[in-house]
Amino acid sequence: MTQRIAVVTGGMGGLGESISTKMADAGYKVVVTYSPSNTKYRSWLDEMKAKGYGFAAYPVDVADFDDCAAKVAQMGKDVGPIDILVNNAGITRDMTFKKMSKEDWDAVMHTNLDSCFNMTKQVMDGMSARGWGRVINVSSVNGQKGAFGQTNYSAAKAGIHGFTKALALEVARRNVTVNTISPGYIGTKMVTAIPREILDTKILTQIQVNRLGKPDEVAGLIIYLCSEEAAFVTGANISINGGQHMY
Ligand code: CAA
Repeated sequence: MTQRIAVVTGGMGGLGESISTKMADAGYKVVVTYSPSNTKYRSWLDEMKAKGYGFAAYPVDVADFDDCAAKVAQMGKDVGPIDILVNNAGITRDMTFKKMSKEDWDAVMHTNLDSCFNMTKQVMDGMSARGWGRVINVSSVNGQKGAFGQTNYSAAKAGIHGFTKALALEVARRNVTVNTISPGYIGTKMVTAIPREILDTKILTQIQVNRLGKPDEVAGLIIYLCSEEAAFVTGANISINGGQHMY
């Protein structure tokens, strides 16, 4: 079988690095996208190269439809048609609703939710025409249960699953699966940026396995969803949260 091509948005980030490397280990040709404001992309690529990973990488503003269209067209020319899309890029702008500005709301909606449309739109016709594809949208436990200080993030992450379910219906007959995964609190920079006291007293106390999740645990689930064996899983929202919330 020819090597499948996977795009991981935010592929250099806390979760993204694990997803990208595990997917490469699993035999996929992995293309990572990174934020155009990321000044450390070159050193990340060098570090990965030293570890034996030759990623193709593109700066993509996932909040910008035209940028996604241009960059994904370029990937198609440089690397080939995209079989797997992992919509992983995301940001937080945590604050109580009282303090939240329209700009904080818009930034999170555009980057975390519009991005799923902006990126998936570029690849879905090709997947459908070729009769095989996988789209994995990375949501969050906080899209399922809500989180203090995250009206913007919880709304965007909940929206992702509506998108997943509707699109899964439309493309199931083309052998394209569309799924959501909803990680809980994983030990990445996004989570360790939470004030220590809040993390210890309000969050860790809810996690039944009594620890943060590991990025590799999330990546392992994505590898499964990409596999042939997962062809019957579509429109699902799979929780991976250490028992914090059972949905
Ligand atoms: N549950 C209940 N009460 C909470 C709370 C929580 N999770 N977080 C804060 N509070 C309470 C505080 O204890 C405080 O109460 P008192 O006034 O009685 O002391 C009150 O809310 C105000 O808290 P702060 O003084 O901290 O207010 P702030 O405006 O400075 O910060 C905040 C508020 C930004 C929400 C901050 O508390 C915070 O960062 N909380 C964590 C938010 C969070 O969980 N983010 C997840 C990031 S990781 C992620 O998003 C990945 C993923 O998908 C899981």
